[in-house]
Amino acid sequence: MSEKQTLIKLVDLSMSFDQKLLFKNLNLEIKQGDFLSIIGPNGTGKSTLIQLMMKELAPRSGQVIYTDNGFDRKKIGFVPQTRNINEDYPLNLTSFVSLRLYDNLIPWLTKKDRLKISTALKKVRLQDKSDNLLANSSGGEQQRAYIAQALVHDPKMIILDEPTNGLDERSKKEVMEILKKLQVEDQVTIVLVTHDPESVIQNSTKILKLNGDGTFEVGDQSLLENNDVEF
Ligand SMILES: Nc1ncnc2c1ncn2[C@@H]1O[C@H](COP(=O)(O)OP(=O)(O)O)[C@@H](O)[C@H]1O
Ligand SMILES: [Mg+2]
Repeated sequence: MSEKQTLIKLVDLSMSFDQKLLFKNLNLEIKQGDFLSIIGPNGTGKSTLIQLMMKELAPRSGQVIYTDNGFDRKKIGFVPQTRNINEDYPLNLTSFVSLRLYDNLIPWLTKKDRLKISTALKKVRLQDKSDNLLANSSGGEQQRAYIAQALVHDPKMIILDEPTNGLDERSKKEVMEILKKLQVEDQVTIVLVTHDPESVIQNSTKILKLNGDGTFEVGDQSLLENNDVEF
């Protein structure tokens, strides 16, 4: 088997806002097929770090390097923490997923686009609900529709910012099963910011814990053995 490709390399990455240091000299490699969980209490810099990974923000010092030929921001599907969805807007799941396709010159969906949309909906188990309105869908279904939208361009990596927040246990489990399947079967690299210890334990191949005082730890599930771990 070939060695797994490194997609993103963080080199001596440091970030601060005003006087607040978030992390200092962070070194980390994210490889194809990794399931990286990023944990730590609120305000420790998790969302800031993923913005840095997507090069949407400049670090205080250090570098974010895309090491693989052909890997760039377009190969990352992003599921943000919050969204402003107008509840009254009559958008069904197919149309919602298609929104990410409208950066081309043709203002309608081609046969190929429709296939991309139905493939993405299938991966999140919403193929039978494609005509349902997003606004009328359950929290778990909405979250899965966001993931489908992030998948529509067939990304090498998806980055998700607290996707299971506010979901009931069953919906959480379903979202995590979908992510695990994407990682194991499709070799999609997963970067997950989460406060859910169970999903971290079950799914991660790598864990990054931000402590909020500039320090951090990189490791595996043994990082959670310490009872002081705060989510
Ligand atoms: N654009 C910004 N300007 C100034 N401070 C910011 C900015 N973005 C985030 N912060 C601060 O940086 C800290 C980390 O924020 P964030 O990355 O959102 O943390 P987390 O996602 O772990 O909750 C917080 O104290 C937040 O207020
Ligand atoms: Mg956050």
